[in-house]
Amino acid sequence: MADSDTYNATLARSNEIEKDLLLNPKNYTVLTGDRPTGALHIGHYFGSIRNRVRLAKMGIPTMIVIADYQVLTDHDSFDKISQNTKGLVLDYLAAGITPSDYVCIFPHSYLPEANQLLLPFLTLVTKSELERNPTVKTEIESAGLKSVNMGMYTYPVHQAVDILFCKANLVPAGKDQMPHIELARTIARRFNDKYGEIFPLPDILLSKAPSILGLDGNGKMSKSRGNTIMLGASEDETARLIKGAKTDSNRTITYDPLNRPEVSNLLLLISLCTGEDPNDIAANIGDGGSGKLKSLLTDALNAELKPLREKRATLIKDDAYIRQVLLDGVKIAKEKAATTLNEVRKAMNMII
Ligand code: TRP
Repeated sequence: MADSDTYNATLARSNEIEKDLLLNPKNYTVLTGDRPTGALHIGHYFGSIRNRVRLAKMGIPTMIVIADYQVLTDHDSFDKISQNTKGLVLDYLAAGITPSDYVCIFPHSYLPEANQLLLPFLTLVTKSELERNPTVKTEIESAGLKSVNMGMYTYPVHQAVDILFCKANLVPAGKDQMPHIELARTIARRFNDKYGEIFPLPDILLSKAPSILGLDGNGKMSKSRGNTIMLGASEDETARLIKGAKTDSNRTITYDPLNRPEVSNLLLLISLCTGEDPNDIAANIGDGGSGKLKSLLTDALNAELKPLREKRATLIKDDAYIRQVLLDGVKIAKEKAATTLNEVRKAMNMII
């Protein structure tokens, strides 16, 4: 299948699941996660965090993995991993994730029982399959790696461990994660065929939020490009960053993503905050120019993030609580991992 056919088929399936989620939330276990490489920004918030909060609030068991081992694939520095891990928890909680017996947050390095699944899983894939992974290839290129460690090629197999140890069947993620979820399905299928039915075949729930451009209009919003607004930024800082955002010289504001990507991106952000149609927002601004556009966005974004920021400011003082959230998450995840490992051992004839 051509790439776009695969994408369209995946999107159609994802839309079907989206409908079924409302009818049968209990049929799903969601697993998703992030690498602890730094605090989250508004691109993460609109792209994935808000959606996770929605799913967890629907009563769907939601496991959030903090992929600390994955950081080692292309980052030399490891000095901030634990700090970044806690920063992620802070952002999740502030955004409205409420840990419970079915919503948990945990770093995967704390789960030896799950990590052990990596060994049998590695025997179910070939070297050339791993070398072909388009997302891995892009990451190698964009990080400009001269020599590539094997963790870079094998982390998608470890990501299959993240998904399968808790028998998750739904992974909310962006398009870039499609090859990884496909690999997790392949591993689950091959394992089941060889050793007996143990794993569900996970589906991806594609992110609905359109991808958000950086404030400089230069590609994706990302912290390393310095073109974003952090969730924890102050209102003044938010205003200042928006003031500096790139626009164009046409005073009449219109929503035209193809020809006016920067202006349209700011309209889209307002729309994500207020729920209004970007075309209507543009029509209301009319000849008000980018000054009016930017002041509307500043107000909308600061209003949207106000409760989150207040909660964040309170939670940041309570490191012991953040740590406890992680330990509680680890406890729940560890139990699931131990149960699965036991089933896997039995299936593979390794019980002594
Ligand atoms: N690879 C994901 C990223 O870079 C992070 C991740 C790790 C993940 N394990 C996962 C995402 C399992 C979804 C499911 O963003």
